[in-house]
Amino acid sequence: MKIIGTGSSLPKKVVTNDMLSEFLDTSDEWIVPRTGIHSRHVISDEEIWELGADAARKALEMAGKKPEDIDYFICSNVVTEYMTPGLSCVISSMIGLSCPCIDINCACPGFIFALDIAETHFKAGAVKNVLIVCAEEPTRMTSWQDRSTCVLFGDGAGAVVLTEGCNIKGIKLHSEPDPTKIWQKRRLMPTPYITKEEEDVPLQMKGREVFRFAVQASTTQVEALLGEIGMDKSEVSYYMVHQANLRIINAIKQYLGEPDEKFPTNIADHGNSSSASCTILLDECNRKGMFKEGDVLVFSAFGAGLLSGAAVVEW
Ligand code: COA
Repeated sequence: MKIIGTGSSLPKKVVTNDMLSEFLDTSDEWIVPRTGIHSRHVISDEEIWELGADAARKALEMAGKKPEDIDYFICSNVVTEYMTPGLSCVISSMIGLSCPCIDINCACPGFIFALDIAETHFKAGAVKNVLIVCAEEPTRMTSWQDRSTCVLFGDGAGAVVLTEGCNIKGIKLHSEPDPTKIWQKRRLMPTPYITKEEEDVPLQMKGREVFRFAVQASTTQVEALLGEIGMDKSEVSYYMVHQANLRIINAIKQYLGEPDEKFPTNIADHGNSSSASCTILLDECNRKGMFKEGDVLVFSAFGAGLLSGAAVVEW
C-alpha cells in the first residue's frame, strides 16, 4: 500500500503556558524545558467528529478520491462523547462513506496499528483504497487541576488515504500490557445490580516510567525493524516520532545517533495529541513539500497500554 493523501484539522483555541499558569500552579519556565511545549490547540466549541471529518475531506481531496472510492475506513480514537456508534460511523455519516468502518483504541500508537490493519487488508487483496482518521481530544481526559498531566496534551485530527502499492517496507508492533502506567476510567450507567463502587477518574500517568518505556520501546523497535528489512539508518530520510515530549524525541535521536534535521517536530505548538500526533505531523510536513518520491519515513509511536509501534514507509 501507499500513502496518496494526507489531511489534518486543529481546534481554533490556542492555549499558551502562560494561560495555564493563570489557574494552575505551573509556569512556562517549568513546562518548556521538561516538555518542549509552548502552546496547544484545545477543543472548545468544536466536536471531535467535525475535526475528523475535516481532516478526512482534505486527505481525500489530495488523493483525488471520492467517498465512494474508499473500501474500508479505520478510525483511531481513545475517547469521545459517543460510546456508540463508533466515531468511525459518525465521521462516515458526515463525509458520505458507506464502506465498512471500525474504531480502534490503541492510544498514541493508534496510527501505526491502523496502518497494520490496512496493510493486512491490502495484502489479502480485499481493498483498493483505505481511509485512516486519527481523531483525539485528550484534553477531555485529564483533570485541569492536575498540573502533571493537563499541560502535556492538545487536541486534533489527522487523516491519510492509502491505495495499492508496495511502499510499506515493514511494521512492528509491541505490547507490554499494564493498565497502571497510563489510565482513565469512566462510570457507566448504574443498574439495580451494581453494588461495587465506581468512579470517574481523570487521566493518571506515571510520567517517569512512561518516559523510560517510550525511549526504550521506540529505539529498540526502530533498530530491530530496520535490521529486519535490511535498511541502514543512512537510508532514512525522516523519523516521524510521536510528539509526546521533546525530551523523549531528543533521547531517541541521541540513542539512534541521527541528526536533528531527520526529526521534524510540531510539539512546541501542538502538545501531545495521542494517535493524531503522527498524522498531523505527517500532513504538516507533506503540505510544506518536505517529502520527495523515494524518501523513507520511519514512524515511531508509544503510549498507554503500554503499546508501541514502528513503521517504515517509502514516500
Ligand atoms: N508545573 C510545575 N510543577 C510541576 C508540573 C507542572 N506542570 N508538573 C509536575 N510538577 C512538579 C511535581 O509536582 C513535582 O514536584 P515535587 O518534587 O514537589 O513533588 C516536580 O514537578 C517533579 O515532578 P516529576 O513528575 O518528577 O517531573 P518530571 O521531571 O518527571 O517531568 C513529565 C514530568 C510528565 C514532564 C515527564 O515525566 C514526562 O514527560 N513523562 C512522559 C510523559 C508522556 O509523554 N506521556 C505520554 C506518552 S504517550
